[in-house]
Amino acid sequence: MHSFLSWSLAIGLLAVLTSATPYKHFSLNKRNATERLVFAHFMMGIVSNRQNASDYDNDMKLAKSAGIDAFALNIGTDNYTETQLNFAYASAAKNNMSVFISFDFNWFSPSADATTVGKLTKAFASKKAQLKVDGRVFVSSFVGNGLDVEAVRQAAGTEIYFAPNFRPSTPQIAKTIDGALNWVAWDSNGENRAPKGGKNVPVASGDGNYTAWLGSDKGYIAPVSPWFNTHYGPEVSYPKNWVFPSDLLWFNRWNEILTTNSTPQFLEIITWNDYGESHYIGPLSSKHTDDGNSKWANDMPHTGWLEMATPFIKAYKEGKKEPVITEEKLIYWYRPTPKTVKCNGTDTTGSPPDGAETLEDSVFVVALLKDKGQITAISGMNSQTFNATAGAQAFRVPMGVGAQTFSLKRNGKTIMEATSQRDILNECPCGIYNYNAYVGTVPASNKADALDADGLAGLMKGLNSSCSATPSLPIRMPGATGSTRPLRVRY
Ligand SMILES: *[C@@H]1O[C@H](CO)[C@@H](O)[C@H](O)[C@H]1NC(C)=O
Ligand SMILES: *[C@@H]1O[C@H](CO)[C@@H](O)[C@H](O)[C@H]1NC(C)=O
Ligand SMILES: *[C@@H]1O[C@H](CO)[C@@H](O)[C@H](O)[C@H]1NC(C)=O
Ligand SMILES: *[C@@H]1O[C@H](CO)[C@@H](O)[C@H](O)[C@H]1NC(C)=O
Ligand SMILES: *[C@@H]1O[C@H](CO)[C@@H](O)[C@H](O)[C@H]1NC(C)=O
Ligand SMILES: *[C@@H]1O[C@H](CO)[C@@H](O)[C@H](O)[C@H]1NC(C)=O
Ligand SMILES: *[C@@H]1O[C@H](CO)[C@@H](O)[C@H](O)[C@H]1NC(C)=O
Ligand SMILES: *[C@@H]1O[C@H](CO)[C@@H](O)[C@H](O)[C@H]1NC(C)=O
Repeated sequence: MHSFLSWSLAIGLLAVLTSATPYKHFSLNKRNATERLVFAHFMMGIVSNRQNASDYDNDMKLAKSAGIDAFALNIGTDNYTETQLNFAYASAAKNNMSVFISFDFNWFSPSADATTVGKLTKAFASKKAQLKVDGRVFVSSFVGNGLDVEAVRQAAGTEIYFAPNFRPSTPQIAKTIDGALNWVAWDSNGENRAPKGGKNVPVASGDGNYTAWLGSDKGYIAPVSPWFNTHYGPEVSYPKNWVFPSDLLWFNRWNEILTTNSTPQFLEIITWNDYGESHYIGPLSSKHTDDGNSKWANDMPHTGWLEMATPFIKAYKEGKKEPVITEEKLIYWYRPTPKTVKCNGTDTTGSPPDGAETLEDSVFVVALLKDKGQITAISGMNSQTFNATAGAQAFRVPMGVGAQTFSLKRNGKTIMEATSQRDILNECPCGIYNYNAYVGTVPASNKADALDADGLAGLMKGLNSSCSATPSLPIRMPGATGSTRPLRVRY
């Protein structure tokens, strides 16, 4: 859904705007640096099937309870957009959550749509759930360099806090905005692909570029993302088959956010529900349509990542350097097959995702502990035990085909233990290279998190292998965490 294609397009427009009339400066209040807010990017383009505001309630409640302050509602130009925005704003108001619009300039035109963007901003500006910062209506974007910000402000007719996802450019452009979102949450080669040929542009490099460009009186929205995998083939009109280095990104980036000397005023989690790029932290059951992602999203829950982030979000807001752990748990994740498994015969995309070599064949475990203990991770035939201290620590064990079991012990006594519902297999799930991650927790969740019929509607499209278009993970019975092995699923 998101692509960086429009960036190159915007470069030309940027040159035009740089030489245009100087921006008439609005009086900006100095920001209160202690007010830290956490956003999550929410794709409106895949929720056209929602029927009412209540269809947003679970998302609002769950995000709010994790400490997320607002959803950045990513919109394109679809005819259902305003209907769905109204539902989302109404649900947010009901659930004490905030929202703001994030205009996606893959669909809006930076050169032609400034007035449209301003008018749409105005239409929602006075709603109760609208996020305001320094008393101004918060507005953001995906890409959009070259946009006439002055024209947006005029059409909005109200004071706005405009924090678009412009690439860093000239000081004159920085003066026109109030803040900016950095989208680049993954180490890359600097050209929207995984590092290669010895070229690695780390996420922190983007933090540096943005903060240098914005200066200290503008709000920087730093990105935090758990993963990136997308695997679209000839079933869609655009080729999209790549990963970014993701293994322990979620853990490492949160620690980087907590320990940096220049704490950003805002964070944006990328994303809540972009299943197509595998960086969702919201539930699979969050009602949505299928843009072809179900081939790699089905039976791959990620809400354990939301649970892992919760103590980090709390610490970020409280200005602490370490996560605030109130509940002990283990969060684990892994890809469903080792890289040695070849799927060329049945994968219609034809090859593993670009950047696959940057991912390890490992199973990752993050321990959130209040006291020291022994963590044992068993991946197939591989078993390792680690001495963990109190706090948050990450461990890894080489990926082994078979069952995946994790435990916490103290003084020889098992405190908690669970076996994943999904085995690692030596074969291609649904015939494809699936580089998404399965995320589980100990204690195991007792809630089912499954795609519904709408979320699975496109599963067979682009598959060349028989595959059951139904969620297959069993619903776990509450309390099934002891040494009893739950029913597991083989694919
Ligand atoms: C900044 O915000 C914090 C938290 O809302 C508040 O306690 C503090 O008084 C504010 N400081 C200023 C200078 O407004
Ligand atoms: C909202 O729509 C859903 C279907 O998407 C339906 O199940 C539910 O009953 C509706 N809720 C209300 C309050 O109308
Ligand atoms: C919205 O657009 C879709 C396809 O682009 C079309 O099928 C549908 O009829 C349109 N709906 C409305 C209410 O205009
Ligand atoms: C709404 O959330 C804010 C924090 O975002 C909190 O201060 C306030 O107490 C909440 N209000 C209700 C009614 O839950
Ligand atoms: C930051 O700027 C440097 C110098 O222009 C550039 O090489 C690097 O790619 C930028 N980082 C990101 C994440 O764009
Ligand atoms: C798809 O399956 C058919 C046989 O059912 C086979 O001939 C063909 O090579 C397969 N194509 C791909 C890309 O896997
Ligand atoms: C599978 O495809 C990849 C990429 O096209 C290629 O590098 C690899 O050699 C192929 N493997 C087999 C077994 O054909
Ligand atoms: C963990 O600690 C125990 C007792 O202090 C020690 O025997 C063991 O070697 C340690 N294990 C590792 C992996 O460091």
